[in-house]
Amino acid sequence: MEKNYNKYLISICILSFVYASAQDLPRKIPKGLIFGAATSSYQVEGAWDADGKTQSILDYLYQNSLEQITDGSNGNVATNSYYLYERDVEMMRELGLDFYRFSLSWPRLLPYNYSERINPAGVNYYNNLMDEMLKYGIEPVVTLYHWDLPLELAQQGGWTNPQIVDWFSDFARTAFELFGDRVKYWITLNEPQVFCYYRHPGDDIYKCMKNSLLAHAKAYHIYDEEFRPTHNGAIFISLSTEFYEPVNSQDAEAAEDATNYHWGVFTNPIFSKDGDFPASMKEKLAAKSAKQGLSSSKLPDMSPEEIDFIKGTSDFFGINHYTTKYVYRNESENDYEVPSFYDDLGVQMYQPDSCQIGYSYLVCSVPWGFYKLLTKIREEFDNPPIFITENGFSTHGGLDDQDRIEYYKTYLCAMLDAIDEGSDVRAYTAWSLMDNFEWARGYIDRFGLYEVDYESEELTRTPRASAFMYQNVLRTRSIICGT
Ligand code: NOJ
Repeated sequence: MEKNYNKYLISICILSFVYASAQDLPRKIPKGLIFGAATSSYQVEGAWDADGKTQSILDYLYQNSLEQITDGSNGNVATNSYYLYERDVEMMRELGLDFYRFSLSWPRLLPYNYSERINPAGVNYYNNLMDEMLKYGIEPVVTLYHWDLPLELAQQGGWTNPQIVDWFSDFARTAFELFGDRVKYWITLNEPQVFCYYRHPGDDIYKCMKNSLLAHAKAYHIYDEEFRPTHNGAIFISLSTEFYEPVNSQDAEAAEDATNYHWGVFTNPIFSKDGDFPASMKEKLAAKSAKQGLSSSKLPDMSPEEIDFIKGTSDFFGINHYTTKYVYRNESENDYEVPSFYDDLGVQMYQPDSCQIGYSYLVCSVPWGFYKLLTKIREEFDNPPIFITENGFSTHGGLDDQDRIEYYKTYLCAMLDAIDEGSDVRAYTAWSLMDNFEWARGYIDRFGLYEVDYESEELTRTPRASAFMYQNVLRTRSIICGT
């Protein structure tokens, strides 16, 4: 009896041991999935007026304190990457990146916005950066537009002026001509909903959205017809894709509206079978516009030709993803300014309690939301190839960033769960390679795998604990997901 009991105990012990280690077994990263890190021109380059560059709308707004910045700073110097790009490439090599995502500063390349007046110093800078990367096998992933519109164009209405479609696509063609021999991944626009909202929070946001779609599509067609045959690269758009979870089942429609207004407004025209803006958004905005006494809907119509022109114009479903919000509707709580984008949307949102991790209000860690987002994209858009163009976590500094490590680990594992179920994720990008100018949060919120010492003259970059963790995932091509 006692003998049997001991045997029983031993098997329980073995089983628990096997179970516990299975939970801690490294999970393999699928073959072919590539990894990178990202930044953008205004957030890192500095050198705002060097070598012939003219002002962008961002230089103008931040230099004149026309935006509310928590620490009163701007991107005049930022991380000085215009001069320190060799160190930046060294960091990419230390991490073992497959690619680096950066953006072109439009007023650095075309200070006067005429494609016949290209600024040689700007060309030189991007050539040097790319050539240095390619020397070590690091692929450039180039964003054409990460918000630094030439000031001159902003003064002519910017993205609300239909001429932007030609302005942007001329700039895109210039970039394809200059760098297309080396760039195999082009991103047209970064987060159009965000830049449209920040510049045009009222009714003009919808004009901005439509012009962005047309400008993106025109750049896509130029690449597709004139450059792809020889350069054979990919071109796509990068959308800010928060996940919206209904508070309970009767809030499903509110969550769907939040999704449509923030990113369905772009994904429906580009990725759905029928194209055009989401039907429910068209109906709701038409009704709202009539109620507000407008003679036509604030959401512009799309002609059948425009619908066709935009449909299918993205080789990847490019997503920037950070967090998830709970959504519900309660008419009596609506106290948004009228008219405004958020009044039109008319939902309430809040972040789950799990947000308490870290110090920054910007990022709340909800890995299950990432899994749900990837699943939703797979199910609703016929499993498109996904390029995760940004994902990351902010702190207020410090090298021992265990909270960022936890964020990356759990988000990467959520991504692997979705991949196991069939999601076609092709690339993952950490935001950011290093701390940089974080818009309204200045230099306070820090997203870097590398810490930047803003006090030091050399703007010294030092790897954080998370940099070693990311490096390890890339080197071993595996990650321990734990329980
Ligand atoms: C998205 C933007 O593309 C990037 O510029 C920004 O720094 C990160 N989110 C973090 O907020």
